Amino acid sequence: ASTLGAQAAQSGRYFGTAVAANKLGDSTYSSLLNREFNQVTAENEMKWQTVEPSRGSFNFGPGDRIANQATSHGQRLRGHTMVWHSQLPGWVGSIGDANTLRSVMNNHIAQLANRYKGRIHSWDVVNEAFADGGSGGRRATVFQNVLGDGYIETAFRTARTADPAAKLCYNDYSIEDWNAAKTQGVYRMVRDFKSRGVPIDCVGFQAHFGAGGPPSTFRTTLSNFAALGVDVQITELDIAQAGTGAYANAVRACLDVARCNGITVWGIRDSDSWRSGENPLLFDRNGAKKPAYNSVLTTM
Ligand code: XIL
Repeated sequence: ASTLGAQAAQSGRYFGTAVAANKLGDSTYSSLLNREFNQVTAENEMKWQTVEPSRGSFNFGPGDRIANQATSHGQRLRGHTMVWHSQLPGWVGSIGDANTLRSVMNNHIAQLANRYKGRIHSWDVVNEAFADGGSGGRRATVFQNVLGDGYIETAFRTARTADPAAKLCYNDYSIEDWNAAKTQGVYRMVRDFKSRGVPIDCVGFQAHFGAGGPPSTFRTTLSNFAALGVDVQITELDIAQAGTGAYANAVRACLDVARCNGITVWGIRDSDSWRSGENPLLFDRNGAKKPAYNSVLTTM
């Protein structure tokens, strides 16, 4: 096949990108988006600070533009993200009462789920809840500090009730290396959830890599999580300097695991990237295919 999306579809997978609503009017951007990709993730538009900037006051305009783009072009939509410590408005961070924070969190989840019901394939229900470094434990967010360990389970149960058809995912970075303590912490949580019937369907591996690309254990990690009974996806792929070998290794790790059913890059052109100084994407600033594009296409 001659596009990323069509090539991925040959093995039953999707190939997607993060999308920014304010770029949809750029014709170079939108023609690449609609030619190459069959899945989209809102880069910022469905985050808490945009969706509920003050308590009970919901702004779905930017998220709706992403959802409309996906619907009108037949692109699968990943909701990103319901519960995250970052891009979180200050009013949430300052809630100190557990009952209040629990009802605020559950309401936020239900509002998002209801708004996009029937249009979302998968939701990142909780994003980046584990700490960096060697502890393998939870990140000290307001949710963790006020609600304790149970908040992730609560979030998944609330999301399942609100939209029973959506796949519910946990998403994080630096969990690609099987030997990392953070990976092991997330693995233990998913294993526990599956053993107790907590509704989780998928784990997203952000895959923001340095120039060396994925750790050599990435395929093992994907395979071990999949063996717990969840789908796995590469959700925010970008690689400093976009080396052809590094990209091929990332794609191959996914293709080698049957339950790795999709790959999303975190932007289209280098100029669209949150790491634009590192030129980490598949298209250059003019929208031309880079060598990494051809490497990905031929590897898939
Ligand atoms: C980034 C966006 O790309 C930027 O535009 C924004 O300023 C900050 O967030 N992990 C995630 C993504 O889950 O939501 C982040 O996206 C990148 C890291």
